[in-house]
Amino acid sequence: MKKKLNLKSIQKMKATGEPVTWITSYDLPFASAAENAGIDMILVGDSGGMVQLGYETTNPVTMDEMIVLAKSARRGAPNTFIVGDMPQGSYEISKEKAVENAMRFVKEAGCDAIKLEGGRRVIDKVKAIVDAGILVVGHLGLTPQSTSSFGGYNVQGKTLKSFDETMEDALALQEAGVMALLLEAMPSEPAGQIAKQLDIPVLGIGAGNEVDGQLIIMHDMMGFYQSFRPWFAKCYVPEVIHDFAAGLKEVDDMKQYGREHRKDGLFAIAEMAIAKYIEEVKARQFPSEEYIYPIKDEQLAEIKQSKYWK
Ligand code: KIV
Repeated sequence: MKKKLNLKSIQKMKATGEPVTWITSYDLPFASAAENAGIDMILVGDSGGMVQLGYETTNPVTMDEMIVLAKSARRGAPNTFIVGDMPQGSYEISKEKAVENAMRFVKEAGCDAIKLEGGRRVIDKVKAIVDAGILVVGHLGLTPQSTSSFGGYNVQGKTLKSFDETMEDALALQEAGVMALLLEAMPSEPAGQIAKQLDIPVLGIGAGNEVDGQLIIMHDMMGFYQSFRPWFAKCYVPEVIHDFAAGLKEVDDMKQYGREHRKDGLFAIAEMAIAKYIEEVKARQFPSEEYIYPIKDEQLAEIKQSKYWK
């Protein structure tokens, strides 16, 4: 069995250049499939409010609901580094509230770290949680909980202003002591610049292939979420389904095989799909060009004028 990662081993991967693999899970079966496949980290994301609980956005999901999802994921993946995602309203109000709710993820659900959205505007909350001895992952770029202040689900980091602001937030979060940073929905080049200039691992979801690791939403990569699919998400089932079916062709007694191995159903397909994702991220094959947000030459030229660009 793979050794459970910790703060040190995750941060060491940045130094050695090994991409970190990260996937969301909100329940026992998928978390267990992710652990069996050898994932580095699991995120119990507030996206679970949408893909698991059926809300239209991530905003309605409550702290109590997140704890139930996180507990279930932890039972499914006892040996994996799990990050609990602070839902909207659980950390913005006060430092005390932020620490109290972060602590719930650790004590009640057994999470190893928490993630929260925002940079300088929530830096006092980040510091308070770090000071309470809880590992924190930052989240910048497109931050779904505050899409109204961004004017919608827009790709970030494509203008000088957006790049500079993200870089300043990233530096502030690193200074405040976050263990890692997640960038969402950015072209490769600005995300890669931020990763290059930070000492902590910078992971991406829809942030190209120049960052230190990748996150994917489980229900997108399994094709379970039917309302929409983000442009950067790849469904891995078509790539493994033939191998799955071919493996079963060798089986004489399917009923007995199912009883003995339980590798005859969706769980086995999930494990294979996650293993394929891991393989592609480790080989830096995912995200390939078609899953990366493009940036125009003139936009790139503009952000390269930033005082932060090296
Ligand atoms: O909730 C989640 O899964 C997330 C990702 C969209 C980054 O925060």
